[in-house]
Amino acid sequence: MQSWAGERPAIRLGILGLGAMGTEIMASAVTLPDFAVVCAYDVSPAAVDRARTRHPDVSFAASAQEVVESSSVDAVYIATPPMFHTEAAIAAMRAGKAVFCEKPLAISLADGRRMVAAAAEWGVAAAVNFALSDRNAVLHLERSLAEGEVGEVRGIEVRLSFPRWPRDFQADAAWLAGRDQGGLVREVLSHFVYLTDRLLGPLDPVEVGVDFPLADPHASEVAARGFLRAGGVPVYVSAFSGVAGPELYEWILWGTRRSYLLRNWGELLASEGGEWKTVHLTQPRGSETTRLSLFADAVRGGNPRYLADFATALRVQEVVEAFHHTNVVRQRCEPSR
Ligand SMILES: NC(=O)c1ccc[n+]([C@@H]2O[C@H](COP(=O)([O-])OP(=O)(O)OC[C@H]3O[C@@H](n4cnc5c(N)ncnc54)[C@H](O)[C@@H]3O)[C@@H](O)[C@H]2O)c1
Repeated sequence: MQSWAGERPAIRLGILGLGAMGTEIMASAVTLPDFAVVCAYDVSPAAVDRARTRHPDVSFAASAQEVVESSSVDAVYIATPPMFHTEAAIAAMRAGKAVFCEKPLAISLADGRRMVAAAAEWGVAAAVNFALSDRNAVLHLERSLAEGEVGEVRGIEVRLSFPRWPRDFQADAAWLAGRDQGGLVREVLSHFVYLTDRLLGPLDPVEVGVDFPLADPHASEVAARGFLRAGGVPVYVSAFSGVAGPELYEWILWGTRRSYLLRNWGELLASEGGEWKTVHLTQPRGSETTRLSLFADAVRGGNPRYLADFATALRVQEVVEAFHHTNVVRQRCEPSR
């Protein structure tokens, strides 16, 4: 398949993993002149059948190795469950392909570090898909902080709650309910760790931990709590799953002159005292499609500021894994009745 983005040949993309995210990225990539989706692979024949029905022009490989080593692939997007990211990404980079990997980078720090080292060794574009990286609300926050509109930053709060885990759109992703690679910390909190790191600097986990259900030794956490510092700024995390209530994503920046509330990924509110007021954002929102375009820039030698590189994703992973592996406070809670 040969197509052109203006004067430039399209980047030939291979996709690994055709579940919730792989399906979404594939649907975006086929609309972009920057990319030609040439092949894809999933271990699940049902996932392949679904994708083949939607994208009959794409060829489906018999293995992940076939995708990453194919001479007709320039770049690989990896949307497998996290425990398969490392080997796929390293094999792709070794074969000279650029890599766009889903978060979390990996599930062991040793693997994350190997991925960062491989990206440096092979000199290919290597980026991670954090949903907030090019959101208009985040760009607004970044500008507002740079211009000193918030005054002194007194603290950050991250509050997450999920009535169902995994959430409805990932209902088929059983791995998310497992302790080895799933859980709300890796899956969701990672985005807000990325955001905090991006806006305030690297995070130092002071006292962090998770609660696991007693009933199932393999189940992912049902709560996470944390006190961290980003530079001098205190960061408080509280997150719960399986609770009666709304699905909620809140990231609050408390400033002495202006505070911000980023709610449910895209909704930005501000207060200079008194009620939160909606911030009307005029720039485009940012989406899988815009991040794919940023990745195309990276593949062509650019250094797009709003795309997380592997080193950034490793810093996020270090914080995320601290929640799971800390010796500071670790409790178990009774199963819900
Ligand atoms: N950036 C975001 O906003 C965002 C949102 C959701 C999920 N994610 C991330 O995307 C990744 C995938 O999540 P998902 O929700 O699509 O999960 P999913 O379970 O829906 O999809 C994963 C797919 O990978 C396939 N698979 C498993 N092992 C494989 C292997 N070795 N090779 C090829 N395919 C394999 C599965 O059959 C499945 O179809 C995870 O890392 C997740 O954290 C990112």
